[in-house]
Amino acid sequence: MPNQQVIICHNFIADLENAIGDQPKDSIYILTDSHTQTLCLHLLSGNKKCANARVFNIQPGDSHKNIETLASVWQFLCDNGATRKSLLINLGGGMVTDLGGFAASTFKRGMRYINIPTTLLGAVDAAVGGKTGINFNGLKNEVGVINPAETVLIETSFFETLDHENLVSGMAEILKHALIYSREEWAKVSAFDMEKFDLKQFKPILAASIAIKEGIVEEDPREQGIRKALNFGHTVGHAFESISYEKGMPALHGYAVAWGMICELYLSHKLLGFPKDILIQAVSIIKDTYGALAISCKDYDRLFELMTHDKKNDSKEINFTLLGNIGDIRINQNASQKLIFESLDFYCDSVGL
Ligand code: GLY
Repeated sequence: MPNQQVIICHNFIADLENAIGDQPKDSIYILTDSHTQTLCLHLLSGNKKCANARVFNIQPGDSHKNIETLASVWQFLCDNGATRKSLLINLGGGMVTDLGGFAASTFKRGMRYINIPTTLLGAVDAAVGGKTGINFNGLKNEVGVINPAETVLIETSFFETLDHENLVSGMAEILKHALIYSREEWAKVSAFDMEKFDLKQFKPILAASIAIKEGIVEEDPREQGIRKALNFGHTVGHAFESISYEKGMPALHGYAVAWGMICELYLSHKLLGFPKDILIQAVSIIKDTYGALAISCKDYDRLFELMTHDKKNDSKEINFTLLGNIGDIRINQNASQKLIFESLDFYCDSVGL
C-alpha cells in the first residue's frame, strides 16, 4: 500500500503548495460540504492553484454518505474533464474524506487525492489510514476500499470553528490512542484540560496521537491483526451509537466510543487484570467530560444484538479488542453475555444512572 504523508501544518498555504506539487491548476478539484464551503474553503484561496480549482459541494451528514452522493461526485468529475492525473482535495469531516477518498480511488481507477480534515474527529481518525467508503443497504461503511490519501494536511485553525461537543468527541479517539499506546502518553492526555481546550497546548498531543495511529496502520494497513487495536471501545461504542439514534437522542461518535470504553475497560479488568486504579481514573474523566447516554437494563438485549451484528466480528462471537494494561493490546477477545451485561451495569453505576 502506498505511504501516506501526514503533515501537522505550521504554514498551511506553503504546506498545501508542497502537497499539490506541480499539478496543473486546471486539474484540481475540491470537495466540500455546505459547512466547510462556508467556513473553511476561503482559507484555501490563498493558494493560487486552489483559487482556480473547481469546487463541488455535497450535503453534510452521515445520511448523505451514500451511493447517490458518490455518483454525483463522479458525475461532477466527468462533467468537468477530470482525468486520472487530476487531483481531488477533500475538505471536510469524516463523511467528506471517506466519500471523497472513495470517489478519487475509483474514478478512472484512481486519481490523486489529498485530505484536509476540518473536524478533530476526522483528523485523528477518518482522514488518516486510508479507509474510504460509503454506507450501503442500511449498513455503515459497507462498501469502500483501503487506499490512503497521498497527503493529509492537519491545520488546527479549522478546529477553532468547532463547538465544545465536537472537540471532545474527537478527544475520545485521542484518549483511546493513549490507552492503547503507553503510560507516558496516557499521563499527558489525561492531564489535558478539556474544559478550556487550549488549541495551542493541544497541538503536540494531537501530533503524538496521529503518530500512534500512523504507526499502527503502517504495521497492518489491511486490519489483519494489530490495526484491530484501533477498535478498542468501539464494539460497545457502536452499539451505544446505534441505540442513541433508535432512541431519538443521537450521540456524537466520540461520545459513544467514550462510553464504550467504560464497558471495555471493565471487561479488560475482569478478563485480563487491567489495573483498577486506571479504570477508575478513566471512568471519572469520561463521566465528567461526556456525561451519559441514558440506558437501562431493558436496553441490554438490544445492545447485545447490535454488538453481535458488528462487522468487526469474524464469527458468531462478539469480537473485542481489550487491554491487559495501558499499551498491552489483546485483540480477538471474547466475553460471555453475562459479563457483557455486567459491564453495562458497571457503565450505568459509573455514570450515575
Ligand atoms: N477507525 C479505525 C481505523 O482506521 O482502523
